[in-house]
Amino acid sequence: MKYGQLIEEAIKAREYAYAPYSKFKVGAAVLMEDDKIFTGCNIENASFGATNCAERTAIFKGVSEGLKIIKAVAVTGDPNGYTFPCGICRQVIAEFARDGQIEIIIVKNKEEYIVKTLDEILPGSFTKKDLNN
Ligand code: THU
Repeated sequence: MKYGQLIEEAIKAREYAYAPYSKFKVGAAVLMEDDKIFTGCNIENASFGATNCAERTAIFKGVSEGLKIIKAVAVTGDPNGYTFPCGICRQVIAEFARDGQIEIIIVKNKEEYIVKTLDEILPGSFTKKDLNN
């Protein structure tokens, strides 16, 4: 699959963002094993630290349905710019990524997006391989 569908699903998921505090809406779509797509939005909380980012919402939906391998992630926040995944989300992507070459699609709109590998946005990552030595 090229990323048209993933991008469209991330843009659609952004509409469900619950962001009454920051007003910053984010949508994500994750392509997992068996080519299944899960979507997510950011979900804020009056206790700000309980907020969940869009990427993690999408990934946790997939993992909670038995899938554990991420093949690509699309994320869209500011429609006038490029919103990259936060540090915590990069770490969660790394936990389930097939490998460091998976692509992260940072979407401004349907026509304008940047593609980066996970290794590019999270070099020298700490993962399960570090715990198995
Ligand atoms: N946010 C995400 O959903 N994903 C990110 O990678 C960056 C930040 C959300 C969290 C919060 O609801 C809002 O953006 C402002 O930080």
